[in-house]
Amino acid sequence: MCGIIACAGVKCAAKLLYGGLEDLEYRGYDSAGISVLDKGNIVTVKRKGRVCELKPLVQKLCGSAGIGHTRWATHGKPSDANAHPHSSDRFSVVHNGIIENYAQLKGELAAEGAAFFSATDSEVVVRLLEKYYRGDLKEAVLCTVERLKGAFALCILCSEYEGFVAVRYRNPLIVGEGGGASYAASDMPALSGLCKNVAVLQDGTVAFAKGGEISFCDFKGRPLSLTFAPVPASVRTRGLCGFPHYMIKEINEIPAAVKNTVAAFEEQGCRQALARTAKRRGFSQVVLCGCGTAYNSALAATYGAEELLGIPVRAETAGEFRYRQTSAGAGTLFVAVSQSGETADTVEAARAAKKSGAYVAAVTNVPYSALTSVADIVIPVRAGTEVCVAATKSYCGQIAALALLFGALGGASQYKKAMRDACGAVAMCAKAISDCLSEDAARACASSSCVYFIGRGTDYPVALEGSLKLREVSYIPGEGYPAGELKHGTLALIDGSTLTVAVITQRELSEKVASAVEQICSRGGRAGVVCAEGCAPASLKGRVEFFMEVPACRGMLSPAVAVIPLQLLAYRTAVMLGRDPDKPRNLAKSVTVE
Ligand code: F6R
Repeated sequence: MCGIIACAGVKCAAKLLYGGLEDLEYRGYDSAGISVLDKGNIVTVKRKGRVCELKPLVQKLCGSAGIGHTRWATHGKPSDANAHPHSSDRFSVVHNGIIENYAQLKGELAAEGAAFFSATDSEVVVRLLEKYYRGDLKEAVLCTVERLKGAFALCILCSEYEGFVAVRYRNPLIVGEGGGASYAASDMPALSGLCKNVAVLQDGTVAFAKGGEISFCDFKGRPLSLTFAPVPASVRTRGLCGFPHYMIKEINEIPAAVKNTVAAFEEQGCRQALARTAKRRGFSQVVLCGCGTAYNSALAATYGAEELLGIPVRAETAGEFRYRQTSAGAGTLFVAVSQSGETADTVEAARAAKKSGAYVAAVTNVPYSALTSVADIVIPVRAGTEVCVAATKSYCGQIAALALLFGALGGASQYKKAMRDACGAVAMCAKAISDCLSEDAARACASSSCVYFIGRGTDYPVALEGSLKLREVSYIPGEGYPAGELKHGTLALIDGSTLTVAVITQRELSEKVASAVEQICSRGGRAGVVCAEGCAPASLKGRVEFFMEVPACRGMLSPAVAVIPLQLLAYRTAVMLGRDPDKPRNLAKSVTVE
């Protein structure tokens, strides 16, 4: 959701910023731009399209300080004019977030004679800086942020300041230092190759960076001191390592993601902490929340959890939860699930739950994210940095973390079982990756007008996730359904151009799902099956276009194994159709705006 970066005190700012924007591109890729400060002049290049469009333009740029931006459009379509940075003679600004009162500010500034050159909300920031600048940069910045409503991470260049200013309010921003230079970026992987020490800005912080010196203040101008710490080794990305895309690389990292998540749960003493809290608070319900794939993993975790704990357990999408009167209260364990830990709806849902008295657990892959600062306890997912916009390994890591969380709440023997299941799932995931080649299945998908996914029990949330994955990377329409629901309306859409993929890993439900497939085939629809070993209903042999088999994994880890053929199917279909699976159109990985 837009990536921003800044540097000061470096030899060639443009080259460094360009490299950083490549690392941040997963956050948005419809336009990009860079401003550098060259002998007191701000020079800006920006273009519609991906970061690589900037390459020929940055070659000739000099300067020791600069700012950069890669955009995911919210206000104003992708275009050269709407690309950031937005500049005046004296200032240049990059912004991640949404300025909610921009229309009012724009009206006010225009009435005072300010000219606007874009349709963005962000441009008001540069016009406000001009308005408030009377020779004192700090004063101009503080007066400007006081006027802004919404969410913003900003990096600012001023022609009269040999560095940059960084501002954080409800959108992520990290600063780094080292070797006589200073840096800022939306996330840590973009900084990991540049500096050794980093500090995560908290909401309401302004950083002034000049050479290797950074000073901090709050929005009232009061000095703040921040502690820098080394960049954790886990955030370093190692490139594609010979894989053609991050999506397939990250699917191959699923076994390690599950294994490392299990190890982290133990190392961090999550079991003891959860058991202690459960005893003290006596939870009467568990509410899980997330968006997209994280919601799907949360929903998958509810299956079995209610039987295990004997209290209501439900999952909700965070965007819905945050805006209604919730029943979360002191007896509620609220579990926020988020790969990035920055998804605006999930962070706000966690804040709302906490405000109403719930105990908040954050299940996240990013230990320094906004969600962790809201949570009472952090349950780590150790999937490693996930670069592909489509979440894969983080989903499986979340399933493992949630299984252990419920195991820990269920008592010693349940925890032991969850541990055994999670450890056993590592090899099963590896086998599913190597066995499920899915070329025939991808061909069947690629030639379909619409692909439905069906399942029962825990296979239903897996069907939802398989459908989401295919839609986002291949752009083929479709939906995930509980297998029993298709005949209550959607069967009307089935014809020879549609494909239905049935997920069958629950032996006791296999014949039920098989009859749903029969009903589809009888109406001219085409079908394929993903099943667990020993679950394939004999009646479907010869009736469907493909079978993909995964190891039989019982219990709460089952979705982590069953999802793998569906992730591979989405990946191969996208590649077959010539799509870029790592950067699907219109999407961004970290959704930090509403
Ligand atoms: C789908 C996908 C998204 C995210 C969603 C939540 O592949 O990646 O649906 O799952 O935007 O993101 P996080 O988990 O970062 O909160």
